[in-house]
Amino acid sequence: MAEVFLSPLVGAMLDGLNSWSLKGLELAGSLKTEVESLESTLTTIQAVLQDAEEKQRKSEAIKNWLGKLKQAAYDLEVVLEDFNTEALSRSLHTDARSQVTSFFSLRNPLLFRLDMARKLKNLREKLDAIAGEKSKFHLREGVGEAEIERNEDRQTSSLVKESEVFGRADEKEKIVSMLLCNVSHHDDLSVYAICGMGGLGKTTIAQLVYNDENVAKVFDLRGWVSIVESFGGNWGDIQELDPLQRCLVEKLVGKRFLLVLDDVWNEYHDKFDRLKQALQCGRKGSTVIVTTRLEKVALMMATTPLYRLGCLWDDDSWSLFKQRAFGMGTNGPTPTWKPLGGK
Ligand SMILES: Nc1ncnc2c1ncn2[C@@H]1O[C@H](COP(=O)(O)OP(=O)(O)OP(=O)(O)O)[C@@H](O)[C@H]1O
Ligand SMILES: [Mg+2]
Repeated sequence: MAEVFLSPLVGAMLDGLNSWSLKGLELAGSLKTEVESLESTLTTIQAVLQDAEEKQRKSEAIKNWLGKLKQAAYDLEVVLEDFNTEALSRSLHTDARSQVTSFFSLRNPLLFRLDMARKLKNLREKLDAIAGEKSKFHLREGVGEAEIERNEDRQTSSLVKESEVFGRADEKEKIVSMLLCNVSHHDDLSVYAICGMGGLGKTTIAQLVYNDENVAKVFDLRGWVSIVESFGGNWGDIQELDPLQRCLVEKLVGKRFLLVLDDVWNEYHDKFDRLKQALQCGRKGSTVIVTTRLEKVALMMATTPLYRLGCLWDDDSWSLFKQRAFGMGTNGPTPTWKPLGGK
């Protein structure tokens, strides 16, 4: 079966449903309920569609699922076309004669609405059942080519110019001392999670900790993995995990290591549990630091209380803003601009 791409069709249907009320079709009663339910079902499907379209190349099951969805979407398209035609004809026949429609004719607005509501209900139930199956595929919401391209730009490394980082000394100290304390007290692998909204400085703080000289001294081995692609994307196929884990174990066995998993997005317990199992081979005190925007991911991974990163202090934020706007080492704007920048 050829690859299936439905995002444009589903997007167009949602736009169509949204605009119905604008076309003078009064949605009331069961028809209104059905249209709303349908919008909600289509929105749920649309959220994972781009990820499914990407993954169908590797998964026959996802391709079949998209095939079923395509059939249902085409059926729905036909019904929606009917509805649009009705809207058009009603707007063209506004003379008194056309108002006197036979009660039994489908043109009777009430009967037409009931008939539409019934058809939409059938299709919506079919789509609900298809949408229900999506959980089997662990599809991610809001992921598409654009995001995957962006992901490539999101690769990070452990390198940081500490002199160009504003503030964060206290936060760094706190994490470093927590980490060093744990190294000597904990037998099992410790997993720290730094979480907070995008751009807050999670990667930056992880870089500072990773490069701290006391941290460097205490671990035999340190590694930095930018997760976006490796854990989130390419680990989709579970068979690939085995050789990876073996390789990891060979490198880490008997060593006290620090591993940073930067920018974790997915919440697949099973994958992380397998990775964690493999990482148990390290020496006492081995540690993983995870950075993530998602608190549920942080809660799933961490073995210690979460580190919720706060914002920079005002002065540091202002310095960062000046650095980004005017470049490093310049005096920047006159002080009178500061209140404006603060906004
Ligand atoms: N304290 C800081 N001083 C100087 N630059 C900073 C500071 N905090 C963050 N930055 C800069 O801001 C940008 C975003 O920071 P960073 O990548 O650490 O955020 P993040 O929380 O990891 O974001 P994301 O959720 O997108 O991964 C980077 O270019 C980083 O160098
Ligand atoms: Mg980051």
